[in-house]
Amino acid sequence: MATGQRVCAASEIGPEEARRFTVDGIDVAVVRASDGSLHALNDICSHEEVSLSDGFVEGCALECIGHGSAFDLVTGAPNVLPATEPVAVYALTVEDDSVWVDTSIVQNRAASSS
Ligand code: FES
Repeated sequence: MATGQRVCAASEIGPEEARRFTVDGIDVAVVRASDGSLHALNDICSHEEVSLSDGFVEGCALECIGHGSAFDLVTGAPNVLPATEPVAVYALTVEDDSVWVDTSIVQNRAASSS
């Protein structure tokens, strides 16, 4: 069963696209990976105040337009410097073509939810 907040229809997120939504006051990037899977990450880069949803999807990572760190869509971890800290990855559920994001469920415990 879906929990959290409905953000959009799944069909609204195209291949390798990232879109920003506000869920419970938190900016969230909803991202479709190259394999078609959907993921929800905290939208603010862990390096500086840059919106990750303005970046580029490559495989299963979202590259920040600030300085090029790419964040894994499952673990939230950056692959290269300058970012060193993961961003939060939230629970995302697709139900009847609706995408639900629950920011109360952080799936990568190492990351903070802010
Ligand atoms: S602001 Fe994202 S890598 Fe620097």
